[in-house]
Amino acid sequence: MKNPVKTKIQYSDAILSLSIVFLLAVFCKLVEISLLIPFLLLFLGLLLFFFKKGSLKLFLNLGLLIALTLFASSAIQTYTNLCPLFLPVASIAMLTMLLYDDLQLVFIMAFVSSALFSLMLSGSRWLGLLGVTPLDVMLIFFIGGLAGAFAVRGARTRGTLFAAGLYVGVIQAVGMILIHHDFLLLLSPMFLKVFVLPLLVSGLVCAAVLAGLGVFEYLFGVITNFSLLELSDFNQPLLRRLILEAPGTYHHSLVVSNIAEAAADAIGSNALLTRVGAYYHDIGKLEKPDYFTENQIATGNKHDDLEPSMSRLVILNHVKEGIALAKQYRLNPIIASFIPEHHGTSLMHYFYQKALAAEKTDKGEVNEENYRYPGPKPQRKETAIVLLADSSEAATRSLDEMTPNRIEEVVRKVINNKFIDGQLDESNLTLKEIETIAVTFTRSLSATYHGRVKYPEIKNASDYRHQKSADDHSAEPPRAQEGDSHSS
Ligand SMILES: [Fe+2]
Ligand SMILES: [Fe+2]
Repeated sequence: MKNPVKTKIQYSDAILSLSIVFLLAVFCKLVEISLLIPFLLLFLGLLLFFFKKGSLKLFLNLGLLIALTLFASSAIQTYTNLCPLFLPVASIAMLTMLLYDDLQLVFIMAFVSSALFSLMLSGSRWLGLLGVTPLDVMLIFFIGGLAGAFAVRGARTRGTLFAAGLYVGVIQAVGMILIHHDFLLLLSPMFLKVFVLPLLVSGLVCAAVLAGLGVFEYLFGVITNFSLLELSDFNQPLLRRLILEAPGTYHHSLVVSNIAEAAADAIGSNALLTRVGAYYHDIGKLEKPDYFTENQIATGNKHDDLEPSMSRLVILNHVKEGIALAKQYRLNPIIASFIPEHHGTSLMHYFYQKALAAEKTDKGEVNEENYRYPGPKPQRKETAIVLLADSSEAATRSLDEMTPNRIEEVVRKVINNKFIDGQLDESNLTLKEIETIAVTFTRSLSATYHGRVKYPEIKNASDYRHQKSADDHSAEPPRAQEGDSHSS
C-alpha cells in the first residue's frame, strides 16, 4: 500500500524552514545569545524530516510552543527573582503528547525543550547558588517532561492532568535528590525549601499550563480527548437534531460508531476519535432524512418513484449538506473530515445499476464517474474504519438471515470491494490491520444483529396461567410468536 501524500516533505516547506533557522541564527548572533538555540531548532526540523512527520505547519507549531514557553520563562527570569526550578518546562512534552499523541515527537520535544532551558540558564546566578550544572538541570527537566507525557497519555479527565502535574513534580524532586547524594544535606529543611519545593510546584504549574489546552488546539488545528468527549455529548445541537429529526440515521450512526470504535481499538488507532467521527458522519441526512433507507420504516422507499439520476443527486447531497452543516455549527475540521471521507470516491452501486438498466431501454449514456462520491478518499485510519463500518453495517442490515457466518461473508466482501476499488489507498491501513478490522466487525455485528431469541407472547399473569395450563395438557413446547423478539 502506498504512503499517504501528506507524509512527503515539500521542497518549499524545507527551504522556508531552513530560512527561519538561518534568520534565527543571525538574530542570536546580533543579540549575543547562544547559537546552539538555532542549531537545536535545526535538529528538531531534521528529526521531523527523518521520522517522515515533516510539514512546515508542524515545525512552526512545535517551534511556537517552545518559543512561547522560552519567552515567558526568559521574562520571568529577567524581571523577577524567581528560582528557575519553578519553570514548567515539562509542560512542552505534556502538551505535545496531548495534542499529537506521538511518542517520537514527545521524545524530541522533551529533549529540545530541556536543552534550550538549560542553555538559557547557563549564565544564571541561581545555578551557582543551587550547586547544580546546566546539564543537571537539563536532565531533571528531560526526565520530568517524559514522565509527564506518559502520565497524560490518553487522559480523558481534568483530574488526570492534575495527577500528572503532581507526578512530574515528584519525579523532578527525586531527580534533584539523586544529584545531591549527600544525606546530611538531604535531611536539612533548607534543601526541601530551595530544591524540592520548586520542582514539586513546577509540576503543578505544568498542570495549570495544560488548562489552556483549548487555545493550542485551536491554534494548531488538532483535537484532544477533552474536546472529543464534549462532542460526544448527545446534547450537542447537531446530535440532538439527529435524534429528533432522523432517528433511523441516529441509530445507524450509533451502531457504526460501536463497531468502528472496537475495530480502531483492536488496531491501536484513536478509538475515541473514531467513535465521535462516526456520530457525525451522516449529519447531512438531516436535510432529507426520508430518502435514506434507515428512516423509511413507515414511508416506504421514496426512490421507487424517482429517476436514478435524481436519486443520485439526493444521495450525493447528503455529503454536501453535511459539510455545510459542519461549517454552520463550527464543527472541528477533523470531525468534519469524516463526512466526505466516509464514502471516499465509492460508487453508488444500486443507483448505477438502476441507471444502467434504464439505459438499455432509453439508449442514454450512463457515466460511472457521475455515480461516484466526490471524495476525498480516507486520509487517516479512523475515517477509513468508519467507511468500512458504514458499508458493512448497511450490508448486514439488509441480510435476511443474520447468522455469524453470513455476517462474516458480507463483511469480508464489503471490505474486499472497498480495497480493490482503491478506497483505502491513502489511509495508511496495513493488510494485517484490515484483517483485524474484518474479524472485529464480524464479532461486533454478530453481537448486535444475531441471537435475537424469540419468546412466547405473555402479556400478563392471567395469560401466563392460561398458557401454563394449556402446556400442562400438551406435551408440545410453547411456540414462538411472530414479531415478539428480544435482542440479546
Ligand atoms: Fe453517508
Ligand atoms: Fe452512514
